[in-house]
Formats: sequence, C-alpha cells, structure tokens
Amino acid sequence: MRYFDARIIENRALGNGYFVLRLGGCESLAGSRPGQFMMLRGDWGRDPLLPRPMSLLSVAPEGRADLLARAVGQGTRLLESALPGTRVSILGPLGNGFPEPTQATLDLLVAGGVGMPPLFMQAEHAAHRGLIDRCEMIYGGRTARDLVLLAEMRGLGLAPCLATEDGSVGRRGRVTAALEARIEHHRAATPDRRLRIMACGPREMLWAVARIAEPHAIECYLSVEEQMACGIGVCLGCAMPARSRPFRYACSDGPVFLASDLVIPPAPGQVAGGAP
Ligand SMILES: Cc1cc2nc3c(=O)[nH]c(=O)nc-3n(C[C@H](O)[C@H](O)[C@H](O)COP(=O)(O)OP(=O)(O)OC[C@H]3O[C@@H](n4cnc5c(N)ncnc54)[C@H](O)[C@@H]3O)c2cc1C
Ligand code: FES
Repeated sequence: MRYFDARIIENRALGNGYFVLRLGGCESLAGSRPGQFMMLRGDWGRDPLLPRPMSLLSVAPEGRADLLARAVGQGTRLLESALPGTRVSILGPLGNGFPEPTQATLDLLVAGGVGMPPLFMQAEHAAHRGLIDRCEMIYGGRTARDLVLLAEMRGLGLAPCLATEDGSVGRRGRVTAALEARIEHHRAATPDRRLRIMACGPREMLWAVARIAEPHAIECYLSVEEQMACGIGVCLGCAMPARSRPFRYACSDGPVFLASDLVIPPAPGQVAGGAP
C-alpha cells in the first residue's frame, strides 16, 4: 500500500475546534469498514514530519471521504485552517474495523468526544443495511459544544442518548454513566436481547467501558486512539499489553480490539486483583 494524493473539497467548521474535512480523490478508500483509519499528512513541508492517524467518518461513491477532527496540536490546527483545494497525502484504509451489525444483536455505540467518527460510520453502515434499529448511539462530551453532527445522526434514524459533564445538554455526567443506565434499561425491558458494546474515545473512558461490560458478560469492542508514527506495524511504537500475546499493535492488530484481549488497568482507587 502506498500514500496517495487527495484534495480538500470542503472544510466545515463546527465550533469549539471541531471541523469536518471533505476529501476528494479517495477512490481507494471505497469499501472501508467502520473503525478503519488513515494516516494523513497535509501539504505542510517537513514540520510536523509524521502523518496523523484519522478515523473515517463517512465514505461515499465518486471518491469522496469525510473525516471529523478536533484541533488539539500542530497537525490538526494546520488541517483546521486548510483551504479547499489543498493537497493531502493519505495511506489507507488501515487497521481492522468493528463487527458487522446484525439482526440478532443490539449494538450500544459509545462515543466520547472526537472518538465519535468510527461509531457514526458504523451507524451509517447499519442504516444502509436496514439495521439502524439494531444500534443505539450513546454520545458524551464535556459540554454541549463537544457534541457535534447531531442532526446528521438523527438523519440516519438514530435518537442519540447524550451526556455532558456540565449538564448543558442530555444527562449530566460521564458517558459511562449513561451506558450503565442503558444497559440496565435493556436488561430489564428485553432480558433475552444480545447486547454488544462498541466504543471509541479517550483511553480512560475506554477502560471504564470495559470494566462496565465485563461483569455483564457483554461482548465489548474498543477502538483505541494511541499515538502512531507509521500506522502499518513497522515502528512498533503503538504496542499495547494484551492477553493473547504479550503485545498487540494498535495500528496493525487494531485499532479495534475485543476488550477481553486487552490488559485493562484497575479503576482509579482499586488495586490490581484486589478489593477497592
Ligand atoms: C486510529 C486513530 C484514529 C483517530 N481518529 C481521529 C479522528 O477521527 N479525529 C481526530 O480529531 N483525532 C483522531 N485521532 C487522534 C489524532 O490522531 C490526534 O489528535 C492527532 O494525531 C494530534 O495531532 P496534532 O499534531 O494536532 O497534535 P500533537 O501536537 O501531536 O499533540 C497535541 C495533543 O494531542 C495529543 N495526541 C497526539 N496524538 C494523539 C492520539 N493519537 N490520540 C490522542 N491524543 C493524541 C498529545 O498528547 C497532545 O496533548 C485518532 C487517533 C488514532 C490512533
Ligand atoms: S504506529 Fe508504527 S507500529 Fe503501530
């Protein structure tokens, strides 16, 4: 696989540092699976040197691909201000993806902040297969300004369950508390229904999601956002302790992992293998 050139068609600011880049010339991303990602480098010379990993938000025919990003550092700030027509280099699609939506399962898609794109794409994928009613989006952020593309989610047929830490929209508190409430609801209302969890967001959120899923014996998939340099399993910089092998690489073995295969650290205040 080689880097290819694409062009920014549109750069839509969503406020609070979030923006959607629409790219053209991405024919080779057609058929990408939700959860897969690309390594992307802007036309910005040698600084920053390394490409940045970005999830796919949506891939459409005619070589169009969208990504959602938040400006957090040098690379994403340069992308935030990139004008239509700007050239970018892309390597992808990379990594694995989330499992297929099925009629027999109800997938709780847990999105934390800018970890939302792969879950949006999973919902879009389910909608195209007539399975949007087999997905539920649980989406959390610090404030209302961290929850973006809500109209687009509703357009897919989702009724997202929202949570903000300051209570400015949706349920007040963390997205993990909203997840626990939804699990309780489904367990009481439809105890025979097979739940699965798919999550992407900050690392601590993912660990908390795994700790919630485990005692309920819910199959849980985590898409990890580790720092990556090569994206293809060469630099060994994204190693994560795992159970099936000493290490797994976030880029080439993931970024989606079964939570049961990762070494999940104990909750803050708990000692590994011990009581709270
Ligand atoms: C598989 C994968 C998919 C991703 N998808 C998206 C996406 O769809 N949208 C999006 O906005 N971001 C995504 N990220 C995170 C994104 O790659 C980082 O935010 C980006 O590399 C930061 O680059 P920068 O040059 O702006 O910031 P830097 O100057 O490199 O860093 C700025 C800050 O961001 C933190 N940071 C750097 N890299 C990461 C990282 N990989 N994960 C978390 N924090 C990081 C640094 O610790 C620092 O605090 C993804 C990461 C991975 C691994
Ligand atoms: S980023 Fe280089 S091995 Fe994963």
